Amino acid sequence: MTIRVLTGITTSGTPHLGNYAGAIRPSIQASTQPGVDAFYFMADYHALIKCDDPQRVARSRLEIAATWIAGGLDTDKVTFYRQSDLPAIPELCWMLTCVTAKGLMNRAHAYKASVDQNVARQAEPDDGINMGLFSYPILMAADILMFNAHKVPVGRDQIQHLEMTRDIASRFNHLYGKGSDFFVLPEAQIDEEVATLPGLDGRKMSKSYDNTIPLFEGGAKALRSAVMRIVTDSREPGEPKDAEGSHLYALYRAFATPSESSQFRKQLEEGMGWGDAKSLLCERIEQEIGPMRDRYADLMAHPERIEEILQAGAEKARRLSEPFMATLREAVGLRGSAGAARAAEGKKASGKRARLVSFRDDGNLFRFRLLAADGQELFLSEAFSDPKAAGAAIKSLQSVGLDGIASRQDDDMVLAIDGAVIARFDAAKHDAVAEALLTLQD
Ligand code: TRP
Repeated sequence: MTIRVLTGITTSGTPHLGNYAGAIRPSIQASTQPGVDAFYFMADYHALIKCDDPQRVARSRLEIAATWIAGGLDTDKVTFYRQSDLPAIPELCWMLTCVTAKGLMNRAHAYKASVDQNVARQAEPDDGINMGLFSYPILMAADILMFNAHKVPVGRDQIQHLEMTRDIASRFNHLYGKGSDFFVLPEAQIDEEVATLPGLDGRKMSKSYDNTIPLFEGGAKALRSAVMRIVTDSREPGEPKDAEGSHLYALYRAFATPSESSQFRKQLEEGMGWGDAKSLLCERIEQEIGPMRDRYADLMAHPERIEEILQAGAEKARRLSEPFMATLREAVGLRGSAGAARAAEGKKASGKRARLVSFRDDGNLFRFRLLAADGQELFLSEAFSDPKAAGAAIKSLQSVGLDGIASRQDDDMVLAIDGAVIARFDAAKHDAVAEALLTLQD
C-alpha cells in the first residue's frame, strides 16, 4: 500500500537554516522512499492570516518553492503545488466549517494564546484576532483531507491541529458517509531523528525569536557572519569544551555524518577554540548548501521556471481534487446543476443515452458495464455469482446514482452496497459516471 504523506509551509517569510534542516530536507528525503506518495505545498492562503503585505506573500512563496526545488525535490515524482491554485481547498474548507463545532476552535492553542496575551494586557479578549486565525485549523484540515493523507510530518506545535482534523473528518464521515467514509483519519508524524536546530542564542531557531541563520539569503558571507554570532561560553582556546552542551555541536551534527560529528566533538573536548569550531561548522554547512545556493539563485532569477513547475503540480493536484470535490458536493446535496443540465441535454439531443448492459463473463459469472451515451465503457462491474445480486446492484445504480455508495480509495472510486463492492473505476471518471447515471434516472 502506498502511504500518502502531505505537508505545507506557510508562505510568510524567507526560509532559514532551521526550516531547511527541520522540514524541507527530511520531507525531500521521505519523498524518495518506496511506497511514499508525497504532497508538498505552499500554504499561501494560510499566509494571509498573519501577513497583509501582498509583496511579502508573493516573494515568500517564490523563495519557499525555489528552496524545495534547489534542495533536490523531484517535482515529477511528488505532487508539488501552491494551495491557492486549488479552488477545491476553500470550497472544502467551507463544507468542513459547517460541520465544525465552534467550541472545538475555541480550544485551539494558537487562538487561546492570542486571547491570553490580550487578557494579560487588559485588552478585549478577541482584540486583533481575525476569523482566519480562529478557523485556521479548518483550512489546515481541508489541505490534509482533500488528498486523504495518511501521514502529516509537522512540528510538535501542530499536533493539536491534526487531532482537530481527525475530529472534523469523523464528523463529516458520520454525517454524510452513510457507512462509507469519505475521509481517511490522518496522523501527525513527529520525527525524533529530525533536527530541531538551535538558533544563535540557543533557543529553537525561529523567525519570532530573531535568532535565525539564513539559508541562501546574503550568500556564504551572511551564513558565516551569522555563525560567528552564535553564543558560546567563555572558555578559551586550549580549554576543554562541553561539546554535548553546546549549540555549535548541535548545529554541526545536523549537517555532518556520525563519524565527522564525533571527530568534531573530540576536537572540542580536546580544547579547540570556539572560533575554529565556528569555521569548521561554516565549512560543513557550506559543503551541503553551497551547490544548492547556486541552483536557488538561478531559479530566483527565472521565476517563470518556478511558475511552470507549480502550474504542472497544480494540474496534477486538481486531477485528484476536482473529482473528489464532485463526490463531496453530491454527498452534501450540492450536486452540480450544470452536470444535471448537461445530462438532460445529452438525452434530448442524441436520443441515445447511457446504458447499463449485463452479460455473462467467461467464467459464467454475471457482470454489467456502464456505457456512456457515446458507447464508451465507463466501468465494468465485479463478477456476481447470483444474478439477483447483479440485478439489485443495477437497480440501485439506476435509482440513486452514486449517492451514498461511492467512496474514494487512493486513485479509485469504489462503489459498494451493504459493504459489498460492486465496481471500481478510476477517480478521474467520477464526473462522467455520475452524469451517465443521472440520465438513467427518470
Ligand atoms: N500550519 C502549518 C505550519 O504553520 C502549515 C500548514 C498549512 C500545514 N496547512 C498544512 C502543515 C497542512 C501540514 C499540513 O507550519
